[in-house]
Amino acid sequence: MTRLKLDSVNMRFGPLHVTRDVSFSLEAGERVALIGPNGAGKTTLVNIIAGSLRHSSGTVRFEGEDMAALTTSERARKGLVRTFQISRLFLGMTVEENVRVAALHRHQGRKVSRDTIDAEVGAGLAKLQVGHLAHKMVDSLALGERRLVELSLALTMEPRLLLLDEPAAGIPHGESRMVLKAVNELPSDLTVMLIEHDMDLVFSWARRIIVLSGGAVVMDGQPEAIARDEHVQRIYFGRGDA
Ligand SMILES: Nc1ncnc2c1ncn2[C@@H]1O[C@H](COP(=O)(O)OP(=O)(O)O)[C@@H](O)[C@H]1O
Ligand SMILES: [Mg+2]
Repeated sequence: MTRLKLDSVNMRFGPLHVTRDVSFSLEAGERVALIGPNGAGKTTLVNIIAGSLRHSSGTVRFEGEDMAALTTSERARKGLVRTFQISRLFLGMTVEENVRVAALHRHQGRKVSRDTIDAEVGAGLAKLQVGHLAHKMVDSLALGERRLVELSLALTMEPRLLLLDEPAAGIPHGESRMVLKAVNELPSDLTVMLIEHDMDLVFSWARRIIVLSGGAVVMDGQPEAIARDEHVQRIYFGRGDA
Protein backbone atom coordinates (compact mmCIF):
# COMPACT_ATOMS: atom_id res chain seq x y z
CA MET A 1 0.00 0.00 0.00
CA THR A 2 1.14 3.56 -0.67
CA ARG A 3 2.71 4.85 2.52
CA LEU A 4 2.23 8.56 2.01
CA LYS A 5 0.12 10.50 -0.45
CA LEU A 6 -0.01 14.28 -0.62
CA ASP A 7 -2.63 15.96 -2.81
CA SER A 8 -2.39 19.66 -3.59
CA VAL A 9 -1.07 20.58 -0.17
CA ASN A 10 -0.85 24.31 0.47
CA MET A 11 0.39 26.25 3.47
CA ARG A 12 -0.03 29.95 3.98
CA PHE A 13 1.33 32.02 6.83
CA GLY A 14 -0.77 35.16 6.37
CA PRO A 15 0.32 36.55 3.01
CA LEU A 16 3.22 34.08 2.71
CA HIS A 17 2.46 31.10 0.52
CA VAL A 18 5.19 28.68 1.64
CA THR A 19 3.81 25.36 0.37
CA ARG A 20 2.32 25.41 -3.09
CA ASP A 21 0.16 22.62 -4.46
CA VAL A 22 2.52 19.89 -3.34
CA SER A 23 1.50 16.42 -4.56
CA PHE A 24 3.50 13.22 -4.44
CA SER A 25 3.33 9.64 -3.18
CA LEU A 26 5.89 7.53 -1.34
CA GLU A 27 5.88 3.75 -1.49
CA ALA A 28 7.25 1.12 0.90
CA GLY A 29 11.01 1.13 1.24
CA GLU A 30 11.61 4.29 -0.79
CA ARG A 31 14.76 6.32 -0.11
CA VAL A 32 13.83 9.89 -0.94
CA ALA A 33 15.84 13.05 -0.44
CA LEU A 34 13.94 16.34 -0.18
CA ILE A 35 16.23 19.13 -1.31
CA GLY A 36 15.98 22.82 -2.14
CA PRO A 37 17.51 26.14 -1.14
CA ASN A 38 17.10 27.61 2.35
CA GLY A 39 13.55 28.83 2.79
CA ALA A 40 12.22 26.51 0.06
CA GLY A 41 9.72 25.05 2.52
CA LYS A 42 11.32 21.69 3.33
CA THR A 43 10.90 21.83 7.10
CA THR A 44 7.40 23.25 6.70
CA LEU A 45 6.47 20.25 4.57
CA VAL A 46 7.88 17.82 7.14
CA ASN A 47 5.92 19.68 9.85
CA ILE A 48 2.74 19.32 7.82
CA ILE A 49 3.27 15.60 7.19
CA ALA A 50 4.18 14.92 10.82
CA GLY A 51 1.24 16.99 12.07
CA SER A 52 3.03 19.79 13.91
CA LEU A 53 1.57 22.28 11.43
CA ARG A 54 -1.96 22.32 10.13
CA HIS A 55 -1.91 22.92 6.36
CA SER A 56 -4.23 25.44 4.73
CA SER A 57 -5.61 23.12 2.06
CA GLY A 58 -5.06 19.77 0.39
CA THR A 59 -4.81 16.29 1.89
CA VAL A 60 -2.13 14.23 3.60
CA ARG A 61 -2.82 10.50 3.63
CA PHE A 62 -0.76 7.89 5.45
CA GLU A 63 -1.49 4.34 4.34
CA GLY A 64 -4.74 5.53 2.82
CA GLU A 65 -5.97 7.38 5.89
CA ASP A 66 -6.52 11.14 5.92
CA MET A 67 -4.28 12.52 8.68
CA ALA A 68 -6.07 15.86 9.04
CA ALA A 69 -7.66 15.19 12.43
CA LEU A 70 -4.64 13.41 13.94
CA THR A 71 -2.06 14.92 16.28
CA THR A 72 1.68 14.34 15.94
CA SER A 73 1.52 11.67 18.66
CA GLU A 74 -1.38 9.88 17.04
CA ARG A 75 0.47 9.87 13.71
CA ALA A 76 3.63 8.57 15.38
CA ARG A 77 1.70 5.72 16.97
CA LYS A 78 0.42 4.80 13.52
CA GLY A 79 4.00 4.63 12.22
CA LEU A 80 4.48 8.12 10.79
CA VAL A 81 7.54 9.31 12.70
CA ARG A 82 9.88 12.26 12.38
CA THR A 83 13.11 13.39 13.95
CA PHE A 84 13.84 17.02 14.60
CA GLN A 85 16.45 19.42 13.29
CA ILE A 86 16.88 20.37 16.95
CA SER A 87 17.26 17.63 19.53
CA ARG A 88 14.16 16.72 21.55
CA LEU A 89 15.82 14.29 23.95
CA PHE A 90 15.40 14.52 27.71
CA LEU A 91 18.91 15.63 28.62
CA GLY A 92 18.61 14.88 32.34
CA MET A 93 17.71 11.26 31.73
CA THR A 94 19.74 8.25 30.65
CA VAL A 95 19.65 6.89 27.12
CA GLU A 96 17.66 3.89 28.28
CA GLU A 97 15.13 6.10 30.06
CA ASN A 98 14.66 8.12 26.88
CA VAL A 99 14.06 4.97 24.83
CA ARG A 100 11.63 3.78 27.52
CA VAL A 101 9.63 7.00 27.22
CA ALA A 102 9.33 6.37 23.48
CA ALA A 103 8.28 2.76 23.99
CA LEU A 104 5.65 3.73 26.58
CA HIS A 105 4.44 6.50 24.31
CA ARG A 106 3.83 4.02 21.52
CA HIS A 107 1.56 1.97 23.77
CA GLN A 108 -0.23 4.92 25.29
CA GLY A 109 -3.77 4.01 26.31
CA ARG A 110 -3.15 0.27 26.00
CA LYS A 111 -2.23 -2.32 28.61
CA VAL A 112 1.25 -3.76 28.13
CA SER A 113 3.45 -5.75 30.45
CA ARG A 114 6.69 -4.43 31.82
CA ASP A 115 8.46 -7.34 30.06
CA THR A 116 7.12 -6.19 26.70
CA ILE A 117 8.39 -2.66 27.29
CA ASP A 118 11.77 -3.97 28.52
CA ALA A 119 12.11 -6.07 25.38
CA GLU A 120 11.26 -3.11 23.16
CA VAL A 121 13.73 -0.87 24.95
CA GLY A 122 16.45 -3.49 24.49
CA ALA A 123 15.60 -3.85 20.83
CA GLY A 124 15.53 -0.08 20.33
CA LEU A 125 18.98 0.30 21.85
CA ALA A 126 20.35 -2.63 19.85
CA LYS A 127 19.02 -1.38 16.52
CA LEU A 128 21.54 1.43 16.37
CA GLN A 129 24.23 -0.17 18.45
CA VAL A 130 23.79 2.33 21.27
CA GLY A 131 23.39 -0.39 23.93
CA HIS A 132 26.77 0.53 25.44
CA LEU A 133 25.41 4.04 26.10
CA ALA A 134 22.26 2.77 27.85
CA HIS A 135 23.10 4.05 31.31
CA LYS A 136 24.76 7.30 30.32
CA MET A 137 23.01 10.60 30.81
CA VAL A 138 22.09 12.10 27.48
CA ASP A 139 23.77 15.42 28.31
CA SER A 140 27.09 13.60 28.70
CA LEU A 141 26.99 12.22 25.14
CA ALA A 142 28.74 13.56 22.06
CA LEU A 143 26.39 15.22 19.57
CA GLY A 144 26.70 12.37 17.07
CA GLU A 145 25.81 9.87 19.79
CA ARG A 146 22.76 11.93 20.68
CA ARG A 147 21.60 11.73 17.09
CA LEU A 148 21.96 7.96 17.16
CA VAL A 149 19.85 7.90 20.31
CA GLU A 150 17.23 10.06 18.58
CA LEU A 151 17.20 7.62 15.69
CA SER A 152 16.77 4.68 18.03
CA LEU A 153 13.89 6.52 19.73
CA ALA A 154 12.31 6.97 16.33
CA LEU A 155 12.81 3.28 15.53
CA THR A 156 11.29 2.29 18.88
CA MET A 157 8.07 3.78 17.52
CA GLU A 158 8.24 1.07 14.81
CA PRO A 159 7.81 3.56 11.97
CA ARG A 160 6.80 2.72 8.43
CA LEU A 161 7.57 6.26 7.32
CA LEU A 162 10.51 8.11 8.84
CA LEU A 163 11.09 11.81 8.19
CA LEU A 164 14.64 12.98 8.91
CA ASP A 165 15.23 16.73 8.89
CA GLU A 166 18.98 17.30 8.55
CA PRO A 167 20.08 14.52 10.90
CA ALA A 168 23.75 15.39 10.48
CA ALA A 169 23.30 19.16 10.94
CA GLY A 170 25.48 20.73 13.59
CA ILE A 171 27.53 17.62 14.19
CA PRO A 172 31.32 17.57 13.85
CA HIS A 173 32.38 15.89 10.60
CA GLY A 174 33.92 12.81 12.21
CA GLU A 175 30.71 12.08 14.07
CA SER A 176 28.37 12.92 11.22
CA ARG A 177 29.66 9.94 9.27
CA MET A 178 28.50 7.67 12.11
CA VAL A 179 25.03 9.20 11.87
CA LEU A 180 24.90 8.88 8.09
CA LYS A 181 26.04 5.28 8.32
CA ALA A 182 23.07 4.66 10.62
CA VAL A 183 20.76 6.33 8.10
CA ASN A 184 22.22 4.06 5.42
CA GLU A 185 21.50 0.99 7.49
CA LEU A 186 17.83 1.69 8.28
CA PRO A 187 15.50 -1.29 7.64
CA SER A 188 14.89 -1.75 3.92
CA ASP A 189 11.08 -1.84 4.15
CA LEU A 190 10.99 1.49 6.00
CA THR A 191 10.16 4.48 3.80
CA VAL A 192 12.65 7.26 4.51
CA MET A 193 12.43 10.89 3.49
CA LEU A 194 15.63 12.78 4.27
CA ILE A 195 16.35 16.49 4.20
CA GLU A 196 20.07 16.93 3.78
CA HIS A 197 22.40 19.61 2.42
CA ASP A 198 25.39 17.42 1.65
CA MET A 199 24.89 16.72 -2.05
CA ASP A 200 27.44 13.89 -2.13
CA LEU A 201 25.42 12.11 0.50
CA VAL A 202 22.10 12.91 -1.16
CA PHE A 203 23.22 11.60 -4.53
CA SER A 204 24.82 8.45 -3.13
CA TRP A 205 22.00 7.56 -0.74
CA ALA A 206 18.76 8.59 -2.43
CA ARG A 207 17.02 6.52 -5.10
CA ARG A 208 14.68 9.45 -5.71
CA ILE A 209 15.02 13.18 -5.21
CA ILE A 210 12.24 15.72 -4.79
CA VAL A 211 13.31 19.32 -5.37
CA LEU A 212 11.38 22.12 -3.68
CA SER A 213 11.73 25.73 -4.68
CA GLY A 214 9.54 28.56 -3.46
CA GLY A 215 7.31 25.99 -1.78
CA ALA A 216 6.58 24.04 -4.98
CA VAL A 217 7.89 20.73 -6.26
CA VAL A 218 9.95 21.68 -9.31
CA MET A 219 11.41 18.25 -9.97
CA ASP A 220 10.83 14.71 -8.79
CA GLY A 221 12.90 11.88 -10.18
CA GLN A 222 15.92 9.68 -10.04
CA PRO A 223 19.23 11.26 -9.00
CA GLU A 224 20.70 10.87 -12.49
CA ALA A 225 17.87 12.90 -14.03
CA ILE A 226 17.98 15.52 -11.27
CA ALA A 227 21.71 16.02 -11.66
CA ARG A 228 21.29 16.64 -15.40
CA ASP A 229 18.33 19.00 -15.16
CA GLU A 230 19.19 22.58 -16.13
CA HIS A 231 16.37 24.14 -14.16
CA VAL A 232 17.52 22.35 -11.01
CA GLN A 233 21.13 23.32 -11.61
CA ARG A 234 20.09 26.94 -11.93
CA ILE A 235 17.77 27.24 -8.94
CA TYR A 236 19.55 24.90 -6.61
CA PHE A 237 23.21 24.75 -7.44
CA GLY A 238 23.31 28.36 -8.57
CA ARG A 239 24.82 27.46 -11.94
CA GLY A 240 23.90 28.96 -15.28
CA ASP A 241 22.25 32.36 -15.64
CA ALA A 242 19.80 33.57 -13.02
N1 LIG B 1 5.69 29.83 11.54
C1 LIG B 1 6.00 30.55 10.45
N2 LIG B 1 5.44 31.77 10.24
C2 LIG B 1 5.74 32.48 9.13
N3 LIG B 1 6.59 32.07 8.16
C3 LIG B 1 7.18 30.88 8.33
C4 LIG B 1 6.93 30.04 9.47
N4 LIG B 1 7.65 28.91 9.36
C5 LIG B 1 8.34 29.03 8.19
N5 LIG B 1 8.05 30.21 7.59
C6 LIG B 1 8.59 30.65 6.30
O1 LIG B 1 8.34 29.63 5.36
C7 LIG B 1 9.40 29.55 4.43
C8 LIG B 1 9.94 28.15 4.38
O2 LIG B 1 10.63 27.86 5.59
P1 LIG B 1 11.21 26.41 5.90
O3 LIG B 1 10.13 25.42 5.69
O4 LIG B 1 11.84 26.46 7.23
O5 LIG B 1 12.30 26.26 4.74
P2 LIG B 1 13.53 25.23 4.61
O6 LIG B 1 13.39 24.17 5.65
O7 LIG B 1 13.43 24.72 3.21
O8 LIG B 1 14.78 26.05 4.78
C9 LIG B 1 10.44 30.59 4.86
O9 LIG B 1 10.24 31.74 4.09
C10 LIG B 1 10.10 30.82 6.30
O10 LIG B 1 10.47 32.10 6.70
MG1 LIG C 1 14.71 23.47 7.25
